[in-house]
Amino acid sequence: MSLLLHRTNFGNPENLGKILTLEEAKSLLDEWVKNEKLKVHMKQVGHLMGAYAQSKGYDELTVKKWYQAGLLHDADWDQWPEQHCRKIIEELERRELDSEMIRAIASHGPRYFGVDPVTEMDHMLYAFDELSGFVHAYSLMRPEGYVGMEIKGVKKRLKDKTFAAQVSREDIQDAAQRANISVEELIQFVIDHQASADLS
Ligand SMILES: [Fe+2]
Ligand SMILES: [Fe+2]
Repeated sequence: MSLLLHRTNFGNPENLGKILTLEEAKSLLDEWVKNEKLKVHMKQVGHLMGAYAQSKGYDELTVKKWYQAGLLHDADWDQWPEQHCRKIIEELERRELDSEMIRAIASHGPRYFGVDPVTEMDHMLYAFDELSGFVHAYSLMRPEGYVGMEIKGVKKRLKDKTFAAQVSREDIQDAAQRANISVEELIQFVIDHQASADLS
């Protein structure tokens, strides 16, 4: 089974700035994703993306756009894993939405989709994707969750290949390198922001 997209252009640049309302995005999520754990993952990645754009001082629309890229990046994974992420991309293209947001989703797994992250939004979505799930798994095994969590604790679990074994350490390293941000800095950002994600 190949998930390669075989293209590098996504959406129409004329649609830049066109995103779904929060309500529309959430109803797409509820309609397409039945798996509650996956929904949590998507909301957490959305939250991290929005928080990161905000930390950079980007305008409101950009913050919303980054959030939406994170929120919808795995929308087709639950029901159509063999079409991940082609199906959600085609849906967002059909709805004539922001081409940069669609591109970010298309490049969130370069090894699988064959699309290299180019923009900062592309890079950060790839960088947060696996790490977000990993830190979440770690928070679940800690009695205090995110409280008092430290980088070194996360790194220790990263070295333990039996812990959250499905999370690709290789992708975490590769994404950090491509984003030109240290894994430590990314971990700290996730620790600082993930707990406040709105999971409703
Ligand atoms: Fe994915
Ligand atoms: Fe994901």
